[in-house]
Amino acid sequence: MSVWSPKPAGRGAVRILSIAATAAATMVILGIAQDSSQAPPDLSQTGLYADYATKTVDPRNLAYSPQYPLWSDGAAKRRWVYLPAGAQVDASDPDVWDFPKGTKVWKEFSFGGRRVETRLIESLGGGEMRFASYAWNAAETDAVLVPPEGLRGVAEIRPGIRHDIPGVLDCQACHVSRRAELLGFSALQLSADRDPGAPNAEPVIPGMINLTTLIARGLIRSFPDGWKERALRIPAPNPRTRAALGYLHANCGNCHNSGGGLDVINLLLRHSVAPDATTEPAIATAVNRKGRFRIPGAEPGSTFLICPGDADHSAVVYRMSSRNPLRQMPPLGTKIVDSEALPLIRLWIEEDLSKDTRIPEAE
Ligand code: HEC
Ligand code: HEC
Repeated sequence: MSVWSPKPAGRGAVRILSIAATAAATMVILGIAQDSSQAPPDLSQTGLYADYATKTVDPRNLAYSPQYPLWSDGAAKRRWVYLPAGAQVDASDPDVWDFPKGTKVWKEFSFGGRRVETRLIESLGGGEMRFASYAWNAAETDAVLVPPEGLRGVAEIRPGIRHDIPGVLDCQACHVSRRAELLGFSALQLSADRDPGAPNAEPVIPGMINLTTLIARGLIRSFPDGWKERALRIPAPNPRTRAALGYLHANCGNCHNSGGGLDVINLLLRHSVAPDATTEPAIATAVNRKGRFRIPGAEPGSTFLICPGDADHSAVVYRMSSRNPLRQMPPLGTKIVDSEALPLIRLWIEEDLSKDTRIPEAE
């Protein structure tokens, strides 16, 4: 059931809503204060590398790859996590893990085979996280801390389109809802049962850690019964539904969830791995439901968040296909439409969803 009036929003209302998608406004909605503590000025001081000259990663930093990556305009990514010796990740909330003070995660972005930026999230303890990014020089010999407002146009990603390094408010718009979070270092994302249909899936390189190896090494505590015996996966009636729900979880569910200020929209695209989770939020809140947004040119009242069998009247598809700054989804971190995920989401809506779609409960 919709919390909004069934009347379609007028143009003005849509505009104001869209402007709210800018990072600063999101921060206002979420009421998040900007963190003032300073990250080290140079990547060499963050502990990523054992030898900076040869760019040899410190073996204490463990490589991993989330099964559903964030679309970042085709950037190639590498990621490493450092957990302080003897410390454990607390999985009491299976969906949002709590990381010990001193945890660090790096994510390196390359375009055209060249490193462009390396992002760092560090747990400062007490649920606080510090966000930073380091911009690489053209020779890839050194990377320096980017100012809090970010850095525009650091590398060409397509003719005439250049990559921007997000500012700290943008990092927080995606990474902070009820509290600061790691988004790709989570139970679902690290499951050994990787989704072969995940858009933009990355190869698993031997030696990478996953949920099973983390548990075996004793690096996680307070995880639900069952995680040891069976790998986690999104329950779905067919492979495309699984991949679509995983994509929405990773690329949209970090904002569209019930933990932050956006819960008023009640478009919940985040999958929950909690043992007591019984419904799939994306199905329950998007399919056959109308939101505020109206597709330009569409008949009044004909836009659904997701309209089963009809991708052209689905706001989710329209907004994924747009790179108009007022309409695009996600609103941040991308300038190019995800041409692998978009057809998948379209086909899922056209062929797998019907008016009475229900997703089976997890066994
Ligand atoms: C950085 C946070 C963020 C991310 C990530 C994000 N959104 Fe949004 N989304 C917003 C905000 C803020 C709004 C409300 C303002 C607006 O409509 O522009 C919104 C609104 C929407 C709406 C309109 C809801 C309505 O009531 O009509 C749709 C549809 C939507 N998003 C789909 C998506 C999809 C699909 C993705 C992933 C591909 C996504 N969003 C990712 C922040 C985000
Ligand atoms: C559009 C939303 C978005 C923005 C903006 C964003 N991130 Fe992320 N980030 C994600 C998602 C989703 C993941 C997990 C998926 C992946 O790694 O591909 C992630 C992963 C990471 C990781 C690996 C650890 C983790 O959380 O999984 C780091 C480190 C990171 N981001 C740092 C940053 C920093 C620093 C900024 C700002 C300079 C930033 N991010 C901006 C969405 C975002």
